[in-house]
Amino acid sequence: MGISFPQGFLWGAASSAHQIEGNNVASDLWGLESRLPERSGDACDSYHRWPEDLDLVRDLGLTAYRFGVEWARVEPVEGQVSRAHLAHYRRMVEGCLERGITPIVTLHHFTSPMWFQREGGWRSGAAAGRFRAYVRAVLPILDGVPWVCTINEPNMLAMMAEAIRDGHREPGVAGAMAAPDQAMADALVAAHRAAREELGAAGLRAGWTIANQNFQAEDGAEAERDAWAWPREDQFLEAAKGDDFVGVQAYTRVRIGRQGALPVPDGARRTLTGWEFYPDALGDAVRHTAGKLPGVPILVTENGIATADDAERVEYTSAALAGLHAALAEGADVRGYLHWSLLDNYEWGSWAPTFGLVSVDRETFARDAKPSARWLGEVARSNGLRA
Ligand code: NOJ
Repeated sequence: MGISFPQGFLWGAASSAHQIEGNNVASDLWGLESRLPERSGDACDSYHRWPEDLDLVRDLGLTAYRFGVEWARVEPVEGQVSRAHLAHYRRMVEGCLERGITPIVTLHHFTSPMWFQREGGWRSGAAAGRFRAYVRAVLPILDGVPWVCTINEPNMLAMMAEAIRDGHREPGVAGAMAAPDQAMADALVAAHRAAREELGAAGLRAGWTIANQNFQAEDGAEAERDAWAWPREDQFLEAAKGDDFVGVQAYTRVRIGRQGALPVPDGARRTLTGWEFYPDALGDAVRHTAGKLPGVPILVTENGIATADDAERVEYTSAALAGLHAALAEGADVRGYLHWSLLDNYEWGSWAPTFGLVSVDRETFARDAKPSARWLGEVARSNGLRA
């Protein structure tokens, strides 16, 4: 028996530029990383090894790859566009198409050019205009890209940016508790809208990818959850209305009590990020998003687990996919699933939480597909899971 997904469902893996490329020296985070426990450095050297990465995606049997274009490379100085870097990203798009891989491109994934940050970053009134100019510069290389993600996890960016910059890495609970910086949230929405205008005018399908926190009320705290938890996320979903698609990214849940977000309970099973092992988060997040945005196609742009035990990755992912399938059966319009992440990459301050389907030797950069990668490739080939 088992379960099968709709015909044409995309199966892939996701990455982001800063986390895998290496030497992202013109980015804001590059300088700030000295305050974090570990630095990105050469990362996975994917700026040079991307053909190998794409070969892996193809050989595993996956049909889609999400990767990032790095703003700091494309526009290292305001108004000065690097043709060499644009040509590089065009080669990546073509590399996907030649291999029969659907390219899904993210234009902003947490990092910005250093100059942008110096001039006020997302809090500056000029931010949306600056982002629009960057998107215009990138447009010519996006020909043939069916899904363009404008800004990754704007809600996390608004809630966590300061915490990450100060060297605290406590996503989940800390992220849920921090109030989003409203000026920043507004600027991100404006930037997203500006990008959509540019991309839409060029005939490209654009959406943004939201960190779904999957807030769950405990102890009769439904009122608290609805009053302050959901609105933090839903303002970003609201801005996706009328979009071509929305990206769902879900890993775990955040429990809400009367006083706010609760820590993961003692004794609960945890992953290497400290998050609760909670694969049902994916189905729940898709249901929530589908309920908020009827008629808007959904792409699961991230889901996965930081673990050193690869069998646990398969356990988590098969349970998450069962939940996703149930949400589809209830009517959610989900077009594909992208696992986070293709490679064991730089997890914003640390190399320890390994999310990858493929390990990367930190000295030689040699890639080695884990059994979970082959398992997901089988899922992709059969477009479903066996019972
Ligand atoms: C969300 C982010 O988009 C990605 O950069 C990060 O590595 C994963 N979640 C895991 O924390």
